[in-house]
Amino acid sequence: METTFVMIKPDGVKRRIVGEIIHRLEKKGLEIVDIKLLNLSKELAEEHYSEHKGKEFFDQLIEYITSGPVIAMVVKGNNAIQAVRQLMGNTDPIKAAPGTIRGDYGLTIRENLVHGSDSLESSKREISLFFNKNL
Ligand code: PPS
Repeated sequence: METTFVMIKPDGVKRRIVGEIIHRLEKKGLEIVDIKLLNLSKELAEEHYSEHKGKEFFDQLIEYITSGPVIAMVVKGNNAIQAVRQLMGNTDPIKAAPGTIRGDYGLTIRENLVHGSDSLESSKREISLFFNKNL
């Protein structure tokens, strides 16, 4: 069993597709083991995305991710990290296949609805950052 961190970004919450996104995770067989709605502080946002500091999109990303509430989740299942990334689709919704969350609901790379950890190491770091616990 693997555990990953998933965040429904502000556009997903604003557009009221939280239920749809969670439904897709659950239909796949993944289990939500922790969940909360929160507004990211600038500090938490910058820490979460620290690997992108210095990139040209960094300021835009921080502005967007702090623009409204997000849903943070701990998600568990076989190969959960890869399973979530498949369900999300390509980072750029225009390149994401239909049938994926971003492919079905997104249009721009800035508002791409959802974040999922890209490795075991980042999942541990992100879960401890958002949920204050080590798994
Ligand atoms: S990189 O440079 O290839 O590692 O970046 P990438 O994986 O494409 O994107 C990393 C995260 O930054 C978000 N992103 C953006 N946000 C706002 N504006 C722009 N232009 C932009 N470009 C990339 C992208 O959605 C990724 O967020 P997460 O939450 O990790 O999916």
